[in-house]
Amino acid sequence: RQAHRFEVLFEITKQSATFFQQQLFKPSGQSAQHYIQQRGLSATILKQYAIGYAPAGWQNLLEHIGQSPENTQHLLTTGLVIENPEKQSIYDRFRHRLIFPIRDIRGRFIGFGGRVLSPNDKPKYLNSPETPIFQKRQELYGLFEARQQRRQLDFLLVVEGYMDVVALAQNGIPNAVATLGTSVSQEHVTRLFKTVKEVIYCFDGDEAGRKAAWRALETTLPFMQDGYQAKFLFLPEGEDPDSLVRKEGQQAFLTRLKRSSQSIADYFFQTLCEQVDIQHMDGKARLAALAKPFIEQLPQGVFYQLMLGHLAELTGLSEQALSELSQVPSQLTT
Ligand code: UTP
Ligand code: MN
Ligand code: MN
Ligand code: MN
Ligand code: MN
Repeated sequence: RQAHRFEVLFEITKQSATFFQQQLFKPSGQSAQHYIQQRGLSATILKQYAIGYAPAGWQNLLEHIGQSPENTQHLLTTGLVIENPEKQSIYDRFRHRLIFPIRDIRGRFIGFGGRVLSPNDKPKYLNSPETPIFQKRQELYGLFEARQQRRQLDFLLVVEGYMDVVALAQNGIPNAVATLGTSVSQEHVTRLFKTVKEVIYCFDGDEAGRKAAWRALETTLPFMQDGYQAKFLFLPEGEDPDSLVRKEGQQAFLTRLKRSSQSIADYFFQTLCEQVDIQHMDGKARLAALAKPFIEQLPQGVFYQLMLGHLAELTGLSEQALSELSQVPSQLTT
């Protein structure tokens, strides 16, 4: 029953994606076409990512798909239309926006992101709400498309936005996925490491991006089984993967990835060392106290041993002493 219920929802989201794609090539889609050109997206990329346009007006999708009460209900369930109970009216969620359909790993349409075409319109991006077929903490935008383009993915880049994923693909780097306006979740990391052994986080070169990077580190540490790699590429201030790859091109971006991405271990120790005065004993004590809870999150293995060994080196403490440090809280509570 549940499966059948989802099948009809996938049918509706698929029809909606097709509707949006068609709208792009109508006379009313001209401003969207213009916007796409401005951002340097080719017809091939539009097709690969099924990018479309939701026309201006309140009931275009509703009138096209919602002919029956059942279909209207499915549009409501998938968040494509919104009900206003007071006015007893139903209207399209996405209006006059560029549409990025979101597919699950099997290629089924599960949600949509919509970008404004004019800088005055707000919010800049509007996303489908959580629905029975769309859970944001599970899904990665672009994963299906990445696997379509590259049978064998050596690594995955995790970026912030739809446009970053698409611009990288446009510039010959089809390995990028984006979280959907949320931070990186445990479910995301699990899915990433099921697909590749190397993940590179590449968020925007701004304060929000740097905060997101540290949160991604915290979420990723418990999944660092031996043989898996996580890296971080920090971009120049004010840049994001989209702006940078368009500016410097595929080769320079790949070189940057190779030369400038930092291992999770380096990023971890560098960040903590910036917060203490490592020259003095009190700084070393603080470093040990700061680092220990994170290192304890790592799965047992060589990487864990190396991280503990490095902390020992930095602080001058023996690994034995560091191990006992972690026992302090539990001793206090017993
Ligand atoms: P950014 O704020 O970094 O997008 O949001 P941007 O780079 O400025 O956008 P462009 O390049 O002008 O198009 C990154 C992601 O965060 C989510 C979206 O998923 C977006 O792709 N977001 C952002 C929202 O959900 N809502 C917003 O209003 C803004
Ligand atoms: Mn922004
Ligand atoms: Mn950003
Ligand atoms: Mn950005
Ligand atoms: Mn951007």
